[in-house]
Amino acid sequence: MANPTRKKLFIKTYGCQMNVYDSARMADVLAPLGYTATETAEEADMVILNTCHIREKAAEKVFSDLGRIRPLKNAKDNMIVAVAGCVAQAEGSEILARAPHVDIVVGPQAYHRLPEMVARATRAREQVLDTDFPAEPKFDHLPAPRADGPTAFLSVQEGCDKFCTFCVVPYTRGAEYSRPAADVLREARILVGGGAREITLLGQNVNAFHGEGPDGSTWTLGRLIRALAEVDGLARIRYTTSHPRDMDDDLIAAHGEVPQLMPFLHLPVQSGSDKILAAMNRGHTADDFRRIVDKLRGARADIALSSDFITGYPGETDKDFDETMELVGDVGFVQSFSFKYSPRPGTPAALLKPQVPDDVKTERLHLLQQVLDAQLRAFNTSCVGSTFDILLTNPGRYPGQIVGRSPYLQAVHVMADPKHIGSIVPVKVVSVEAYSLGAVWADNETKAASA
Ligand code: SAH
Ligand code: SF4
Ligand code: F3S
Repeated sequence: MANPTRKKLFIKTYGCQMNVYDSARMADVLAPLGYTATETAEEADMVILNTCHIREKAAEKVFSDLGRIRPLKNAKDNMIVAVAGCVAQAEGSEILARAPHVDIVVGPQAYHRLPEMVARATRAREQVLDTDFPAEPKFDHLPAPRADGPTAFLSVQEGCDKFCTFCVVPYTRGAEYSRPAADVLREARILVGGGAREITLLGQNVNAFHGEGPDGSTWTLGRLIRALAEVDGLARIRYTTSHPRDMDDDLIAAHGEVPQLMPFLHLPVQSGSDKILAAMNRGHTADDFRRIVDKLRGARADIALSSDFITGYPGETDKDFDETMELVGDVGFVQSFSFKYSPRPGTPAALLKPQVPDDVKTERLHLLQQVLDAQLRAFNTSCVGSTFDILLTNPGRYPGQIVGRSPYLQAVHVMADPKHIGSIVPVKVVSVEAYSLGAVWADNETKAASA
């Protein structure tokens, strides 16, 4: 379009980092139509809710937000309301029926076609539904990404073939797909050229990555990480979310051999009971998980681990839950997410009987979270006095304060000039707050000590 009129776009993102990435890419797709970002729905000419279907609460929130948007739309001519993401994929036309003020329902694999959908919704004033899984992946049709600060997400893998019995993702995101390695490397160079120093590779099962290599062979995630480590200016690499079954030896070895690969890994285990793990179709035992952790620590002694847990999966007894607590005690996590089991429509576990009563799920969740929280605080406290490099990412809450990111993904506050944002600097940790660390420049310390 030669002279697109200026329009404002408000995107609200729910759910996982894949959705954060997708929201940024939807903004990229709509930029040529004249849409620029705004922070409020009130100001917007187009609102996109990029939704999550993983638990009931997340999915229901969409409808209450749609209710709040309705009067805004009624008060304005030509406002477009779109529902994207995993609720869009799962509920499709039901959204249009339940919320008739919605103009567009677009699934996670179809949003590269948003410009056509916007045209149809505006000109023909029809409701548009596109929840196809197109044969040609969306990545082939997306414009080049733009870096937005020193850290960036890069989707390398989508979808899931694992079909854990509790999970909607294989239905909402479709079958596993890996991008060709050359595309990933190209996107990484663009992001680094735009100022990104740290890239987090994303995928629902990112370590199941099996993309086509430039030589026609199949590349694993370990191979891809080794190639990314050659990209000039890319100082830090992370990846998420991994599945224990796909932690192969080469990927584990990369943690010891690739200095850019940060010593922090999110590795969801869900439960410490073999009976529950089997019922969930996770495909590994609790001891398999312990062995993987031992190997990772053998490759990189300081690696810090985080995980996901579900309490109250159907059939979980006190003994099963004790085994989860035992695993948590054995491994020691530095940060974790834990959830009450939420029965999801269309998944096998939702039909199992009996389900665990809600008060039992809640009680177990609290017990688990107490231990996980204590582990997080113990890890943060153990960092006081140590020196490590942080990547300065953004201004802090107080004047002169900058927030940085530690190798272990902790938020670290330090006094620094904003001109240093984007730099990686050595700091000494001096204090612990609830969920962050306070630090001083290690250089200043040295200077002060020698003065
Ligand atoms: N691919 C990742 C997880 C993606 S979903 C993996 O295999 O581990 C993110 C987390 O949401 C899961 O790890 C799980 O802990 C949680 N989750 C998924 N479905 C859930 C459900 N029905 N109820 C409660 N938590 C759920
Ligand atoms: Fe869901 Fe399991 Fe796939 Fe993770 S591996 S996205 S939990 S089905
Ligand atoms: Fe939610 Fe879909 Fe991510 S269900 S967790 S937004 S893949």
